[in-house]
Amino acid sequence: MKRAKVTIIGAGNVGAACAVAAAQRELGDIILIDLPELADKTAGKALDLAQCGPVDRFDCKIVGTGEYDAAADSDVVVITAGIPRKPGMSRDDLIQTNVKIVGSVSEKIAGVAPDAVLIVVSNPLDAMVYTTWKKTGFATNKVVGQAGCLDIARFRTFIAMELNCSVEDINALLMGGHGDDMVPLPRYTSVAGIPVSQLIPKDRLDEIIKRAKMGGGEIVKLMGTSAYYAPAAGSIDMAEAIIKDKRRIFPCAAFCQKEFGVGGYFVGVPCMLGANGVEKVIEVELDADERKLLDASVAHVKELVGIADGFLG
Ligand code: LAC
Repeated sequence: MKRAKVTIIGAGNVGAACAVAAAQRELGDIILIDLPELADKTAGKALDLAQCGPVDRFDCKIVGTGEYDAAADSDVVVITAGIPRKPGMSRDDLIQTNVKIVGSVSEKIAGVAPDAVLIVVSNPLDAMVYTTWKKTGFATNKVVGQAGCLDIARFRTFIAMELNCSVEDINALLMGGHGDDMVPLPRYTSVAGIPVSQLIPKDRLDEIIKRAKMGGGEIVKLMGTSAYYAPAAGSIDMAEAIIKDKRRIFPCAAFCQKEFGVGGYFVGVPCMLGANGVEKVIEVELDADERKLLDASVAHVKELVGIADGFLG
């Protein structure tokens, strides 16, 4: 049987952390690609990671290169290329630079791995998913953005910290774009099946929601650059669901036409991920307040996509 193949574009902090997570889960062979001038550095990272195999007990072929041909026949390609935020920057400030980088990477990937499912991680996320889709011409189910997995991981972490309980027991949902106006949904959040509203008073829960929404910025302020461990963990959870056809349900940036009345944009919604990428978008009931928050977040995504389109020409 053919081993699965995961290619990661961009061997910076997020890309390298994705390679570690993919190897530790023994997802298959791992190809790490960065710019040709960084080929030696990328090869070195791959070799270093391969040497964890005997200790961590994974059997993965791990290659680091500057050549896109190495991505041929990939099952999943994770796109992390682009510049990260610095303190004081919003994700939106990256758009002009990252449209060009992600656009060019996407064209190369389409040429060598036309059957892959693409997981986009670069920011501003929702506009970069759109850029990848435009530049590859792939079917909409084959292009999906990572963000919800990270954002709910943050939300779940903060709830577990508050309750001093296991993060494993927190189940949560979040929708909208991957910006500070993302929409955590406490009504769809539970702790071992118990609605979170029964365990945390509303004013305290509101503070936790705010912290989750600003969670990326909190880390940028502390580290001087964007987060990478949790974004990588979220991305590789998605890759695993696709490679193993697990049909897991995550919030992801998926193409919505009629769904939630979005009208043809990639935004964060609950999705089932399997061998075909996004197997389906799952529509959930929203009350008037939730709907208002989602509409505002989607309007922001549409504005960003308009800007990306301008740079795409
Ligand atoms: C974050 C970046 C990766 O939310 O978007 O940390």
